[in-house]
Amino acid sequence: MNIPLVLETDTVSYIIGDNAIEKSVNKFRQFKRIIVITDDNVEKYCLPVFRKKLSSIEIDGIITIISGEENKSIHQLIYIWNELTRLNAGRDDLIVNLGGGVLTDIAGMAAATFKRGLQFMNFPTTLLGMVDAAIGGKTGIDFARFKNQVGLFVNPTCVIADPVFLSTLEEIHWHSGFAEVMKYGLIMDRELWQKLEGKNYHEVEDWNNVIIKAARDKIDIVRFDVLEKGIRKNLNFGHTIGHALESFYLKSGNPVTHGMAIAAGMICETWLSSKIYSIECTCLESIVKMIDKNFSRFNFTENDIPRIMQLMKQDKKIRKNKQNFSLLRKIGKAVHEVEVDNNLIIQSLEFYINRKSIIS
Ligand SMILES: NC(=O)c1ccc[n+]([C@@H]2O[C@H](COP(=O)([O-])OP(=O)(O)OC[C@H]3O[C@@H](n4cnc5c(N)ncnc54)[C@H](O)[C@@H]3O)[C@@H](O)[C@H]2O)c1
Ligand SMILES: [Zn+2]
Repeated sequence: MNIPLVLETDTVSYIIGDNAIEKSVNKFRQFKRIIVITDDNVEKYCLPVFRKKLSSIEIDGIITIISGEENKSIHQLIYIWNELTRLNAGRDDLIVNLGGGVLTDIAGMAAATFKRGLQFMNFPTTLLGMVDAAIGGKTGIDFARFKNQVGLFVNPTCVIADPVFLSTLEEIHWHSGFAEVMKYGLIMDRELWQKLEGKNYHEVEDWNNVIIKAARDKIDIVRFDVLEKGIRKNLNFGHTIGHALESFYLKSGNPVTHGMAIAAGMICETWLSSKIYSIECTCLESIVKMIDKNFSRFNFTENDIPRIMQLMKQDKKIRKNKQNFSLLRKIGKAVHEVEVDNNLIIQSLEFYINRKSIIS
């Protein structure tokens, strides 16, 4: 039987890996009532597993929101506040956030603001949630057509990430999380990268350990830089261009997953890294090859580049004619706050378009 990673930091308890749910049973003891917030899919697929594994824990209320990024909205936040009011939730109660990144973002914000803050635990049910969204205390909603426009930093008391939930996850969401897992390898964990290199996510033998390693990487960063003043910015590798592409496809009516956009962003930003830090050609090739093995290329053209550049300017990191990037010095080592000239960014997008997939 696999034993999960248990990590107690000053503010958060983490239990990550197979059998994490069973191992979390003691964490519920101190609370008067337990209220679960979830979404419609997760209620169907994951809540029965949660109940079965924690059969001794009584659930006093369930709040179910509608799944999907388009519902990470003020309307659903108000719905949760209304439900918490109806259930008369108070400071002695515990909120359990059960779901993917959309759910933990919005329900975390709801819990953190209701009656000036109720305690909550995150039980991520997507790969992206387990290695990224549920960890690090960022909560929020989309507002006025901007992603994560309103929110707050507040940590859950516990993050319990059990891969048992992943058996029902759709393929596109596996891929989306896999892009972030690759990112940890590239920015800080060469060993993880080597474990994954050349593989499609189906071919990864040991997801339990990969999740533990990737989640651990994120924890190691956020525990020392909660408010993203320094090293946490390294997590933005692939995201400056990736976010612009995500917005581009969202606005064109063909939304893509966050991970797909970040994967494309990582190709462009690895190319930028190769220009600025002279990363060896073989590294650039191997990174591009790995991403191409898992993601098909987007079909934007050179005519779309001005629009994509414009969208990039909405990024919080913009300064005049330069963008602030987190780039790679080599595989396993990132640097943040690298100013990159707009011309070079345009060239990186041209590289993406013209340098066709290099998988043999
Ligand atoms: N707070 C952070 O630090 C942080 C970091 C990264 C991403 N995010 C946010 O996370 C969100 C994306 O999260 P996501 O990729 O988990 O998407 P998601 O929460 O939308 O989940 C994807 C889909 O899978 C369903 N689902 C979830 N778990 C399932 C399971 N086990 N079986 C079957 N279906 C399941 C959901 O209902 C949803 O339809 C974005 O809004 C992004 O902004 C936040
Ligand atoms: Zn991301």
